[in-house]
Amino acid sequence: MRKKTNRLIVGLFWGDEGKAKIVDYLTDDATIVARYQGGANAGHTVFFNNQKFVFHQVPSGILHPKIRCVLGAGMVIDLPELRNELIELLQKDIDWRGRIFISPRAHLVLPYHKEIDRVQEIERKIGTTLRGIGPAYRDKADRVGIRIGEIILGKKHLEEKLEKWLEKIGNLYIPLGARFDPPSKVSEDICSSFKTIEDSVVPIVSLLTDVAKNEGGLLAEGAQGTMLSLNWGTYPFVTSSETTAGGASEGLGIDLRLFDEIVGVVKAFSTRVGGGPFPSEGDEKLQEKLRGTGEHFWDEFGATTGRPRRCGWLDGVVLKYSAKLNGVDWLALTKLDILTGINPLKIVVSYKIDGKINYEPPATAEEMGRAVPIFDELPGWNEPIENIKKFEDLPIQAQNYIRKIEEISGVPVKIISVGADREKTILR
Ligand code: IMP
Repeated sequence: MRKKTNRLIVGLFWGDEGKAKIVDYLTDDATIVARYQGGANAGHTVFFNNQKFVFHQVPSGILHPKIRCVLGAGMVIDLPELRNELIELLQKDIDWRGRIFISPRAHLVLPYHKEIDRVQEIERKIGTTLRGIGPAYRDKADRVGIRIGEIILGKKHLEEKLEKWLEKIGNLYIPLGARFDPPSKVSEDICSSFKTIEDSVVPIVSLLTDVAKNEGGLLAEGAQGTMLSLNWGTYPFVTSSETTAGGASEGLGIDLRLFDEIVGVVKAFSTRVGGGPFPSEGDEKLQEKLRGTGEHFWDEFGATTGRPRRCGWLDGVVLKYSAKLNGVDWLALTKLDILTGINPLKIVVSYKIDGKINYEPPATAEEMGRAVPIFDELPGWNEPIENIKKFEDLPIQAQNYIRKIEEISGVPVKIISVGADREKTILR
């Protein structure tokens, strides 16, 4: 039997690149889909058998009956939310039992973390998803977090741990307005939600390594995107995990050399949601055109929070940086159809910061905030492209736009998405 390709899928911008569609597309050639970081801050929308599914924690690969799915050690898991997601899947006739594996090393997002996220946001205004992600990762780094594998120690153990946490850490947030449920209630909720997933909690290192080495078809799925990486993004306007390809090794315990291909997902224009610098952000008219009205599920409104996304021209500085940083082998380009009718098109090729030209994003948000984008202009096209199946049949201007992306990133574009449906995909 042919060994399948092991692939790592990573977003190259600020999330929302359309990874869900690409992961779904590549799942045909997969055995196991694994998420390596983040938590319920992610929102992946997939249309499947005429039903809309929005995934926050479960990999969308679960829709395919033969696919196994892993929630990696690098994730922070909101257990009651996960239980709800799983129950909803069963109600929609998606049987996940025996196909989901959760690392006992993944940390819990507690309701306390969400409360801290809420009160911190009042001042900080990072524009988080309020899912408690930052505070949960902070507890992990501070070595006071609770891991999934610890729940079997029982309600009393959890309650005592939570009491200590409230005393030492939680109390610091009371003056900011935080209100915390009693530990007895929180530990009760954790234990009752745990029942749904108990059988799925298993070590994942051998599972993933064996699949990757033998049958192949390991599809590792990053959430958010490179510019939201805690280490490499527009800090502090980032999420609290390692969103880049390196995060897959950290969060799944897998040797990165087992991946045959690292696939970068890039949208034909740039978006970001929440605060932080965004040099290529467009004027109101461009933003409205790129964002859409909200009537379609692919319009640029957050799948988790419903917030309108900020939209702008494709940022080639970010593209080049992210392609290098992740060791991308090839690109999947999404939402090319949205550019139809915009003329001319612009792509950022460098930033001018304090009079100096930069070809790589600066380390500080302050400098990035002062970056003046320098553009290349390309002619646009007016023909609808949704039903085109071959690269050569695209208008020459669209072909040139894709070639420009290849020139900037230094890697080929192999998948071009020209519409939300699965069939609206050009394979090159
Ligand atoms: P957090 O991950 O909720 O802490 O949010 C930190 C930043 O990451 C905010 O700017 C969020 O809008 C952004 N963010 C988090 N998750 C996603 C996502 O799945 N897509 C896009 N942006 C995200």
